[in-house]
Amino acid sequence: MIKQATIDKIFDAARVEEVIGDFVQLKKSGSNFKGLSPFSDERTPSFMVSPVKQIWKDFSSGKGGNAISFIMEHEHFNYPEALKYLAKRYGIEVEETEQTDEQKEQASERESMYVVTDFADKFFQNQLLSTEKGKAIGLSYFKERGFTRETIKEFGLGYSPDEWSAFTDEALRKQMKLEYLEKTGLTVVKRDASSGIETKKFDRFKGRVMFPIHSMAGRVLGFGGRILGNAKNQAKYLNSPESDIYHKSKVLYGIYQAKQSIAKEDRCYLVEGYTDVIQLHQSGIENVVSSSGTALTTDQIRLISRLTQNITVLFDGDAAGLRASMRGIDMILEQDLNVKVCTFPEGDDPDSFAKNHEETEIREFLEEKATDFIKFKASLLMEEAQGDPIKKSELTRDIMKSVAVIPNEIRQEIYLKECSKIMDVSERVLYSTLAQLNAKAEKEAERQRKSRPQENMAVVKEQQEKSKLEEIDPQYELERNLISLLLIYGEQNGEFVDYILIENEEGELELETVRQEFKVYEKIFWDLKEDLIKFTNSNFQAIFQNILNEFKQKNQLKIESFISTLSPDQASEVSNILMQHETYELHNWERKNIFVKDKTELEPRQVSETIWNLKLKLVRKKIANIIENLNEDRTEQNTQSIQEVMRYKHLENLIARKLNRVL
Ligand code: CTP
Ligand code: MN
Repeated sequence: MIKQATIDKIFDAARVEEVIGDFVQLKKSGSNFKGLSPFSDERTPSFMVSPVKQIWKDFSSGKGGNAISFIMEHEHFNYPEALKYLAKRYGIEVEETEQTDEQKEQASERESMYVVTDFADKFFQNQLLSTEKGKAIGLSYFKERGFTRETIKEFGLGYSPDEWSAFTDEALRKQMKLEYLEKTGLTVVKRDASSGIETKKFDRFKGRVMFPIHSMAGRVLGFGGRILGNAKNQAKYLNSPESDIYHKSKVLYGIYQAKQSIAKEDRCYLVEGYTDVIQLHQSGIENVVSSSGTALTTDQIRLISRLTQNITVLFDGDAAGLRASMRGIDMILEQDLNVKVCTFPEGDDPDSFAKNHEETEIREFLEEKATDFIKFKASLLMEEAQGDPIKKSELTRDIMKSVAVIPNEIRQEIYLKECSKIMDVSERVLYSTLAQLNAKAEKEAERQRKSRPQENMAVVKEQQEKSKLEEIDPQYELERNLISLLLIYGEQNGEFVDYILIENEEGELELETVRQEFKVYEKIFWDLKEDLIKFTNSNFQAIFQNILNEFKQKNQLKIESFISTLSPDQASEVSNILMQHETYELHNWERKNIFVKDKTELEPRQVSETIWNLKLKLVRKKIANIIENLNEDRTEQNTQSIQEVMRYKHLENLIARKLNRVL
């Protein structure tokens, strides 16, 4: 874990306009900066940065937040990765909290493996670009494949000399430990079986051109190495073995180079090999990754779904692998992503096709040829089953299997109708096939539930909690308004009108008006506290607490420093609220000298009304809840509940009367 002191230093140093300025061209506009959204293609700027408040807001995508959340969004980093990025940007040394000896050992072991891998990466690149042999053998191979120097650099391609231990020797000379060279698989060590003493060590990738495999954040995790030429007695590609830093099933080749384009184009092309990725990228199709010759895993799909919900799988011209790969595609459907497939002409793969066509031709081809997966599968299977009714019924079941895994029922239905047309089978038959498959899946799930009962209870509970939270959502707007009032007017004084119940001469209860002066944050704090009210939205509750703390400690709310104390989610909410007031300015971008006040006058009435409305909502919810849980019979419990309802009814009545007064 990164130490809080380091995090504080990073936030002190990082200026949102500088951090974003590294990626987006910003122009001054009033008290803000403006630019073109880095999250969508647009011609007129709708991206705003407030140096005063240290927040940003992208009106085209709706995203917003502070400096750290910008880096997380833009670079697709997680929180610690983003912190480390900013630390580097501002020359701040990252201190991590003390770990246990075991954790330390593990972390430093992984760190050492990264160091070795990073060294190898530089070594291979240097060999390729700066040595006679590397240039003569490796570089000319890549040139022949049509890769430009720029592409070679972007993908960090390299060359491993054709000697038994050129790399290992150099690494050992540079103080790398053999232990980590072995653990990363860069060096193969042979040992005497009985004594364990090493007898031989040699370079795994001897005489190969090298493809480094990057993480989403750009760290080198491992390598693929290709032999030169077409020797039949060696594996064409060799890959780094599984290790603590390289998990084949969790990485996608090219994701680092593709991530921005995937998010921006809102689509990811999936190809088979290293060279397909590189060739397409060089042609201008940058949103492309590869699972490196193996079936796609759920982890890999999740990696993509962080960036887009749309995948197009590109297949080689030969139909042989097609049937086999289609099974893998069902997994993408299971994750509720949209899948299209596109096959290349006989004898072509994405690599050769991209090499021989212009960008516009490739784009046109992909646009035209990409077919929705289910339709594609249905047509393909129907061709296969022509004139063979038994086969047809078998394949019908096969296609419905793909439909059955789609979690979204509406989409299931749409596909079912589509398949009925393509395969000329009635919808009714397809429905019953689907129902059979669902029943079977249900049984299977039940069987698994029974074999692991406890674990699943926890899951069910969690889901119930979740749906409960979602139900309460209508309050969202009111809660958001209250936060908005706190952020904008928190420290201002206002005269607040309230009504209290008193008994008049005739002994009737009557509302009497009282006026009191408060700061807005005090008013909100006391009014909520009075009825023990909490925000139902956990982000809002946390923001509320943070605002109160700021006021308590500093007697004022400086957004600029306050925003850095928030988590990325909270920062995003706050920036959304604050920037809402600036949309007007945005639309007057062309007209100069129009400065819009982002604060209007405080209206104390608005504060009271929001609080009362919120209370009313909550009270009604409470009442409904108690009533719902009443038992049929008259128990002690029930009597208590009914009394509780009466009390709440009373409160409801009072609040409603207060609201009526002001309206
Ligand atoms: N692959 C592998 N090991 C092998 C063969 C293939 O890891 N022995 C992986 C590589 O990631 C390769 C992908 O599977 O890129 C696709 O294999 P293939 O179609 O044979 O390779 P191409 O990418 O077409 O390679 P090239 O064009 O360099 O011949
Ligand atoms: Mn190829």
